[in-house]
Amino acid sequence: MSKTALITGASKGIGRELAFLFAKDGCNLVLVARSADLLVTLKEELEEDYAVSVHIVAADLSQPDAAQAVFSEVKTRGIDTDYLVNNAGFGNYGRFLDAEWNCHERMITLNITTLTHLTYLFANDWKGRKAGRILNVSSTAAFQPGPMMAVYFATKSFVLHLSEALAHEFGQEQISVTTLCPGPTSTHFGEVSKMNASRLVKHVRIAGAGEVASLGYKAMMRGKPVVIHGQMNKLAPFGIRFLPRKWVTRLSAKIMQQ
Ligand SMILES: NC(=O)c1ccc[n+]([C@@H]2O[C@H](COP(=O)([O-])OP(=O)(O)OC[C@H]3O[C@@H](n4cnc5c(N)ncnc54)[C@H](OP(=O)(O)O)[C@@H]3O)[C@@H](O)[C@H]2O)c1
Repeated sequence: MSKTALITGASKGIGRELAFLFAKDGCNLVLVARSADLLVTLKEELEEDYAVSVHIVAADLSQPDAAQAVFSEVKTRGIDTDYLVNNAGFGNYGRFLDAEWNCHERMITLNITTLTHLTYLFANDWKGRKAGRILNVSSTAAFQPGPMMAVYFATKSFVLHLSEALAHEFGQEQISVTTLCPGPTSTHFGEVSKMNASRLVKHVRIAGAGEVASLGYKAMMRGKPVVIHGQMNKLAPFGIRFLPRKWVTRLSAKIMQQ
């Protein structure tokens, strides 16, 4: 019997690429994002090319209780899920005090609360059947503080630590939890977050969304706990373990400058 994956942030970027990978393997999909028009086009393309069944749920996941609303919608439609991909997320480049509070609040709700709540709801649903896989999209931002994107870096650190802990806890339930940590990747993220102005983006190789999605997909299917995209991106989290934290923050601040 065909399996079903729910992907948040499936309308663009890494999430869209993940949708193609699942569909190519014959997996049915529930695609979630705000852009209903993009989701409808993607649904038509996937159903035609891969003969899978695709449901769409247009929702703003930065709103409180969005996770419960999506979960209830999936249940109401009688859809049984096997995979959950918490991919939707955004950042905002700039000084902490210069952004509207609402921007920080929506980011925390989307990147942390909705991801955590969806994980809770779906993993509870799967508990009895001793199967299920979760892919949580974090970032290389998870490994250090990030002046100029302080809230974003902190949210991604939360995702990494939560997911690693749950990967351990859920062993009993035979539910795997994989964290994908991409470095700078060519998607709408740079534009949305205004991060293209930072040195980080100007001086590193920008990965393709397809290669990042593929790495995350394979790691999820193998039940790997954490996967970092790119050789250089793997060096930094290792290297900074040996530096005083104050230096790490200063170094990160330099890289995040315009
Ligand atoms: N690109 C990078 O350099 C990079 C690096 C590290 C980590 N990441 C992470 O990778 C993940 C995917 O981002 P991406 O790079 O693929 O960026 P993207 O091209 O901007 O895609 C973001 C996706 O999230 C959805 N989304 C954003 N806000 C939403 C909301 N309030 N409610 C529902 N869906 C929402 C967007 O759909 P709608 O606009 O249609 O809602 C879109 O499908 C994010 O978690 C990001 O933090 C990206």
